[in-house]
Order: sequence, then C-alpha cells, then structure tokens
Amino acid sequence: MGTKYISEAIAGAGFLPEKGKIVWESPSNIALIKYWGKYGQQYPENPSLSMSLKKSVSIVELIFQKNTNKKGTVDFKFEGKENQSFKKRVDNYLQQLSGYFPFLKDLHLEINSYNTFPHSSGIASSASFMSALALCLCSLEKFSQNIFDNTFYQKASFMARLGSGSASRSVYGEYAFWGKNSGISGSSDEYAVSFTNHIPEKLQTIYDAIIIINSAPKKISSSQGHQLMQNHFYKENRLQQANTNIFRLIDAISSNNWSSMTEVIENEALSLHALMLSSCPGYILLQQQTIDTIDAIRKFRDDSGAQVCFTLDAGPNVHVLYPEEDKKQVEPFIDQKLKPLAENNHIIYDKTGDGPVLREKEKR
Ligand code: PMV
Repeated sequence: MGTKYISEAIAGAGFLPEKGKIVWESPSNIALIKYWGKYGQQYPENPSLSMSLKKSVSIVELIFQKNTNKKGTVDFKFEGKENQSFKKRVDNYLQQLSGYFPFLKDLHLEINSYNTFPHSSGIASSASFMSALALCLCSLEKFSQNIFDNTFYQKASFMARLGSGSASRSVYGEYAFWGKNSGISGSSDEYAVSFTNHIPEKLQTIYDAIIIINSAPKKISSSQGHQLMQNHFYKENRLQQANTNIFRLIDAISSNNWSSMTEVIENEALSLHALMLSSCPGYILLQQQTIDTIDAIRKFRDDSGAQVCFTLDAGPNVHVLYPEEDKKQVEPFIDQKLKPLAENNHIIYDKTGDGPVLREKEKR
C-alpha cells in the first residue's frame, strides 16, 4: 500500500504556486475499542473503533513558499508560540514522509497549530493535530484539485497514522474503524475506514461530557504504553479480547442495545488501565477522583435506569457517554455529582462530530 503512495509521489514542487496557504480543522476522537500495542511502521496489534468529537478540534495552517533560501525548513508555532518539543516531532514526521512527498524539500513551510480545547485539559491533541497536518499535506499535493473522495481521505488516514496511530481515525467524522479484521470489509492496518454506515440513526450522535480530573501532561506517553505491550504477559489474551469486543460492540450498536454497549465500552476502558497496571513497570494512571466518578456513574445508572456509561483514555479523565434521549436526565446529574470531582469544576461538553473541514486553500 505505502509503495503505491511512493510511486505516485510528485518529485518537485513545480506544480505549486509561488506561495499559498491551506487550513484544515480536524477533530480529536475517543476510542470505544482501544488501540493498545503496535508493531513495525505504526501498525496496530488489534483493531479499534472510535467516535470523532465535535468541539475538541485542532486547526492547522500550512503556509508554503517556493523561491526562498529557507527551502526544506519548517517554522512551527503552537497557539502562536514556538514550541521546541512539538517542532521536533513535526520535523521527524516530515522527514518520515519525505519519500511520499518529495516536493517538500523545495519548500519553506510555516505551520501554525491551534486547539479549541484548552491546552492543558488532559485531552490528547496528537490525533487532531496529526490528522489536520496530514490533511494539509495531502491537499498540498493536490493543490489544483478540490476532490475530497474516499481515495483522498484514505491517503490522509495513512499519512496521519504515521504521525500517531489514533490520528488515522480522525480524518473521518462520526465513527471510524482502524485495523485489519476479516469480518469488516475494506478494513486495513494501513489506514482507517469510515464506520458510520454501520451505526443506526439513533446512535449517530452520542454526547460525551469529558470530566477533567487532572490536566497535567500524561505520566507516560502513549508510545511508551504501546511499547510496554510488546512483551506484556497478557498480550495474546488482550488481542483476543479486543477482537471479540469489536464484534460484541458492533452487535450491540446495530441492535441499539445500550446496556450491551455499556458492558463492552466499560470493559475496554478498564482493560486498558488493567494492562497498564500489569505491565513491567506498571503504571497507575487512575486517580481517586477517577474512581469516585466511575462509582457515581454506575450508582446513578442503577438508581435511575438512564442510558449512560463511561470510557477512559490513557489518563485519569473520564468520558461520560449518553444518547440524545437521556440528555435531560444525565446532564443535571453530571452538574450536581460529577462537577465537584473535576479539577476546577472543569467539564467539556462534547458530542459526535462530522469530521474534518477544509477552512482555506488559496494562492498568495
Ligand atoms: O495514537 P496514540 O499512539 O496516541 O495511541 C492512542 C492510544 C489510546 O488513546 C489509549 C487508545 C486509542 O485507540 O485511541
């Protein structure tokens, strides 16, 4: 697959105007079936399924210039300020993509990135940032065209994956599936595919209230976490579990069975943390307030019968998921019982989003 992109690569920047600007907005996503463990060039050990968010997005501006003595260099700013560690990651990423986009060596790039969610909100921004950047690069390669078909998004997903595995899913709105599974036609380890057609109308919008328990950067990066899966004692069982859970979740979703969905989604969230706890060395990313939040959600669900469940990322923050029909019942509970558990009462009320948007593409 990657070889196809290398063979269609355009060598020089002759096809581009002297100067131009491309801006993509792309969402963060929350995995319902977690990708945890990778091999080779960022291939997933197991398939994953995620929902793209609406409000939690990155906006990436890519300004390119041809005739300059700064060819092949990049200036990078995050939220208007230079950021050396992000710049290093961007440089490495572009270096990695140079075989696919050889014309980059003829350009000076200025890349500016912004997030709509607060910087230190504990929400991983690598999926939204890397997908927005990959979309910018794929649009740069097709500068004179405006064709945003399946082939375009598939290539953007492939490129995003090389930056951050979960970013491969963010190039799609609503639901995306990443990882080869013989039961899902078109699925691939190379890129994610849209999964929205498999989702019944009632579940096409799910609300996600993100309870910020701790906004500090994660204790371990997801790269380190994936690494720890390589020799994990439970690795084979985890792979079986994820492949089973995918189909359990798809069945539950297609029959709009919220209680079966809850079982699988919560099992995935807690299993992710169980894997971290039982890796060598083991990591405890849950905090007391995370556990209190989970207990409160489960008690509220038992007492009220409301359709609500939680999921977790590789950190202490809790995503509370509920469908439209239970919004009126669940949101007062969140405000009264969960808000006091959040750091500075911070909750981000998000929901399923429509996916990336091209904000601008122009010659200058
Ligand atoms: O894309 P990465 O390398 O940041 O890994 C993401 C891992 C999880 O967020 C924990 C799960 C997932 O599927 O998004």
